[in-house]
Order: sequence, then structure tokens, then C-alpha cells
Amino acid sequence: MALPKRVRLVEVGPRDGLQNEAKPVPVEVKVELIDRLTDAGHITIEAGSFVSPKWVPQMASTDEVMARIRRKPGVSYPVLVPNKQGFNAALEAKVEEIAVFAAASESFSRKNINCSIAESLERFAPVMEAAQHHGIKVRGYISTVVGCPYEGDVAPQAVADLAAKLLAMGCYEISLGDTIGVGTPGKCVAMVEAVAAVVPREKIAVHFHDTYGQALANILACMERGITVMDTAVAGLGGCPYAKGASGNVGTEDVLYMLNGLGIEHGVDIEKIAATGRFITAALGRQPASKVAQAMAAKLAA
Ligand code: HMG
Ligand code: MG
Repeated sequence: MALPKRVRLVEVGPRDGLQNEAKPVPVEVKVELIDRLTDAGHITIEAGSFVSPKWVPQMASTDEVMARIRRKPGVSYPVLVPNKQGFNAALEAKVEEIAVFAAASESFSRKNINCSIAESLERFAPVMEAAQHHGIKVRGYISTVVGCPYEGDVAPQAVADLAAKLLAMGCYEISLGDTIGVGTPGKCVAMVEAVAAVVPREKIAVHFHDTYGQALANILACMERGITVMDTAVAGLGGCPYAKGASGNVGTEDVLYMLNGLGIEHGVDIEKIAATGRFITAALGRQPASKVAQAMAAKLAA
């Protein structure tokens, strides 16, 4: 299959990127991060999550963040919601899009959301119903799509079965998460092909963490299979609190640089993203994980 002409990036830095930060990130920093990502041209920016503050303290300020960001018409600011309680909070925050999140492996499901895969779907059912009632779009995540930190390899068919269920429940897009970044192109393509047998390719997104440095190769291989939506995090921020050893999402700068080189349209300004990466990593007191971000910063300093 030929490479796509155009793709859509889903910026997950403000949620997946920050959720693992031990020190509370001030609300004004989160708001400036999201506003800068809007200015850079992103049309989907995951802004936070309405989960238990005991489980993920960093996301406790999502209501304040949602109240203070500058929402640009045409840009979506989804938040993660694990249950009806989270949905109600999202509704109060005037959210227009949410994401539910399940896992392809039982052990990860229990560690991440304290229930089995089947129970998680039962919890999502009233969320889906309420979302439909209020005209709120729902994205569906699946974690551990190629490997689980507790169970090892995950069968592509397990991912496909769950993806089909989330689609049938009403998710408009299914994001396939390699939570611990262990996938290689062959494994990711096999998994995506199994999902594509039950979910139209245009409704599939890939969400690769870059723990083993494979994320760009995996994205390229998936684009060759007709996948046109990918989740990225500015500066390569991130990690999941319930996946030991998981490092950041693939850097937005890295993906943009590859897409620019391939002549694939995306609508995002790499210079503005790199500046945003410098802003957030300075606020966090660290260097960006993204190689492209590092190279662009070095060039600026030269
Ligand atoms: P639980 O303890 O089983 O929940 O947690 P519960 O229903 O028994 O309630 C216990 C307490 O939590 C109660 O408070 C509830 O009010 C509160 P208490 O009475 O003890 O004071 N509670 C909530 N508070 C705020 N918002 C809510 C909420 N629900 C219950 N929505 C629960 C179950 C799902 C809530 C918990 O396990 C949880 O919050 N987990 C979140 C885990 C998480 O956010 N993980 C990271 C995101 S997923 C990810 O990163 C992967 C992804 O990037 C893709 C990939 O890379 O693979 C998406
Ligand atoms: Mg993730």
C-alpha cells in the first residue's frame, strides 16, 4: 500500500506526557502548554483525565485546566474517563470529546483500572450511553497491544476482539497502545492487520511509546498499511504509572520531521512544536527525550 498523502496527529503530551510526573505541574503551565499546542496547528489535543486523584494525582487539576485553556473552534480537547463518575466530571467541565481506556491483557487491566477487561466494558456501557445522549464523541484506547509488562506477548486476536467490541459500543476511533514500547514493525503490522479485519482502517490510530526506540519504524510500517492517525507527545514526554519501565510517547517533533521528509501533510508547525517542547521541558527541569527536539535545540544554540 502507498503511504498516505495526509495524516492526523493526536497530541497526548498534556495527558500521557504529564500523568507520570511526580511533582505537581502548575495549572498555568499546563494551560500554556495546551494553548501553545493549539497555536502550533494541532486539531486534537488530549488535555487531561478525570480519574481517581488517589491513583493519578497529577491529573487532579483537569477541571481547572479545561476551564482555562483557550478552546479554538475546530480543535478537539478530549479527556480520559474510566467510569460514569469521570464522565460526570467531564460533562461539568464542558468537554466535547472523551476517551475510554481498556487493555488487551487482564493483568494490566487490573493494575491500571482495578478491574477485569469484561468489567471495564461494563463500566463503559453507561458512559457510552450518556455520551451519546449529550452528543459527546468517544475514542477508545486499547493498552498492551503487543506486550504486557506482567504477561509478556499479547495475541493480535485478543486486541482485535476488544477493538471490535469498543467499535460496536460506539467509539469513533480505536487507538492501539504499545504501552511499554516493546513492539517492532513486524509485530505491530501483524497486530494492526488483525484489528483491520474488524475495524475500518480509517478508524484505527496507533499509540506507540518509544521505550526501545522503535516507535518511528512502527509508525512508518503502519502508515504503509493505511493507518493515518497517530498519537504523539511533544518532546517525547510521558509514561504510564502502571507500566514499570515504560518511557515516553513517540516525540511529536520526531514524527513531524519524518512526515516532512516524506512529504506527508499534517498541518502542524514543527518549529512551534519544538519551542513548546523547550517550554515544557524547561518547566519540568529536564532535557527532551525527542532526538529531533535535541537536534533542533543544538542548532539554535550554535
Ligand atoms: P477503584 O479504586 O477501583 O474505584 O478505582 P472505586 O469505584 O472503588 O472508587 C474508589 C475511590 O475512587 C472513591 O473515592 C471514588 O469516588 C474515587 P473515595 O470514596 O475512596 O474517596 N473515584 C474517582 N475519583 C475521581 N474520578 C473518577 C473516579 N472514579 C472513582 N473517575 C479507577 C478505579 C478506574 C477509578 C482507578 O483505577 C483509576 O482512576 N485509574 C486510572 C488509571 C489511569 O489513569 N491510568 C493512566 C491512563 S491509561 C494509559 O496511560 C494508557 C494509554 O496511554 C494507552 C497506552 O499507552 O497503552 C491510554
Ligand atoms: Mg500511553
